[in-house]
Amino acid sequence: MKGLFITFEGGEGVGKTTQMKKCTSLLEKEGRDVLMTREPGGTEIGEEIRKILLNSAYHTLLQSKTELLLYLAARAQHYYEKIEPALKKGKIVLCDRFMDATAAYQGYARQLGLDFTEEMNRWVLNGAAPHCTFFLYTDIRSGLDRESAQNRLSMESEDFHACVLQGYFELARRHPERIMPLDIRGKGIDEVNAMIMTQLRRFL
Ligand SMILES: Nc1ncnc2c1ncn2[C@@H]1O[C@H](COP(=O)(O)OP(=O)(O)OP(=O)(O)O)[C@@H](O)[C@H]1O
Ligand SMILES: [Mg+2]
Repeated sequence: MKGLFITFEGGEGVGKTTQMKKCTSLLEKEGRDVLMTREPGGTEIGEEIRKILLNSAYHTLLQSKTELLLYLAARAQHYYEKIEPALKKGKIVLCDRFMDATAAYQGYARQLGLDFTEEMNRWVLNGAAPHCTFFLYTDIRSGLDRESAQNRLSMESEDFHACVLQGYFELARRHPERIMPLDIRGKGIDEVNAMIMTQLRRFL
């Protein structure tokens, strides 16, 4: 049995977590076996790494290369410990941020190189990738304004977040077979969810 791997990507406060939770509860109501998880984290080791990554005390201290390697380390643990075994059992895996976040944030916005970070992702995952990625976007301000968690990343400038968004658009252009950009401007939670569920059902 082959599982289904879906990821949710986009800038801060755009509704990734909200949508993933809604999809999970709808799919579970239908009796489907769902694993809901998040990056960085999803494993005990990954959650430890996450604490370093999201600690605002390290805002200026954390080097961008350290940051990249920590995200990749968390991803390796997450993928092989949790995601791959779940997919092998035929589960639907829904993940809040994954490889594209590394490419958009570290590769593009932090200028470590989009090609390089994509290559690193391929190495970490042995070429595996999600079946479908929902890339949610809106204008920068409305995303940041309703952001829930204040963490190290939300202390970045508006320019940085605009750059992240550009990175995501470039990734969507490179991987049109996998990445589905969804313009959520002016759309409520339920409307966005209906769009996502329609697309998601094509894979079921
Ligand atoms: N389409 C929407 N319209 C209005 N408000 C929304 C919409 N989607 C989500 N929200 C609200 O915006 C806030 C942020 O949503 P959520 O936490 O899901 O975003 P996120 O992308 O996971 O953010 P983060 O990057 O911080 O994890 C929440 O209060 C949520 O209820
Ligand atoms: Mg979230």
